[in-house]
Amino acid sequence: MNISILGTGNMATGLAVLFAKASHTVTLGSRDAEKAKTVANTVGNGIAGAELADAAGKADLLVLAVPFDAAAEVIRAAGDLTGKTVVDITNPMTADYSALTIGHTTSAAEEIQKLAPTAKVVKAFNTVFASVLQADGKAAGRPATVFVAGDDADARKTVSDLAISAGLEAIETGGLASARYLEPVAGLNIALGYGLGHGTDIAPTWQRAA
Ligand SMILES: NC(=O)c1ccc[n+]([C@@H]2O[C@H](COP(=O)([O-])OP(=O)(O)OC[C@H]3O[C@@H](n4cnc5c(N)ncnc54)[C@H](OP(=O)(O)O)[C@@H]3O)[C@@H](O)[C@H]2O)c1
Repeated sequence: MNISILGTGNMATGLAVLFAKASHTVTLGSRDAEKAKTVANTVGNGIAGAELADAAGKADLLVLAVPFDAAAEVIRAAGDLTGKTVVDITNPMTADYSALTIGHTTSAAEEIQKLAPTAKVVKAFNTVFASVLQADGKAAGRPATVFVAGDDADARKTVSDLAISAGLEAIETGGLASARYLEPVAGLNIALGYGLGHGTDIAPTWQRAA
């Protein structure tokens, strides 16, 4: 699959390497084309770098790997997203990571869908620490779980299959509004990892019969 990841930070590079190793064609998108190319060269694995609109234009699937507060600006810069699957990995946290900034009656994912109404927005990867991605998608030696929420069933399956192709596990959680549950789960993960001393070699999962 032709994937562009908007952002060049910890999550963007971690996902880019996992997807590239799974034989997907991956481009990192930045506000600064030169930065994108430099980061892409540093992470290797055949990953390309481009300015946001160029990266978005050539992708079947986009990952929004930027702070939630930057989503509007980055979506505007990305151009026409009609028909594209846009994976929202953001967590709308306060600056000190002590609380969510929105929830209950909406979610970051639903707000991003409003910003890109003609795209198929899917929430995923928000409960997986960047350091887990960098450890081949494993937490405590086991594949991390990716919770996948979205209103378009085909897009949801595409993202689940993408996660599985990259060596993670996937659990679909239903429509995009179920992101209202997934974003607090990420908040709990951050509280456990950073606040309560469990470190970042952790990931939430959901035990169930096979
Ligand atoms: N870190 C984690 O463990 C983790 C886990 C799950 C979810 N998330 C979520 O994933 C997203 C990315 O997190 P990250 O840790 O990868 O962040 P990061 O390392 O700080 O990278 C964020 C990237 O966003 C881009 N960006 C675009 N517009 C921006 C703006 N106005 N201000 C700042 N950055 C801007 C920057 O790329 P350019 O400068 O190249 O444009 C930057 O590289 C966040 O929404 C976060 O909540 C993070």
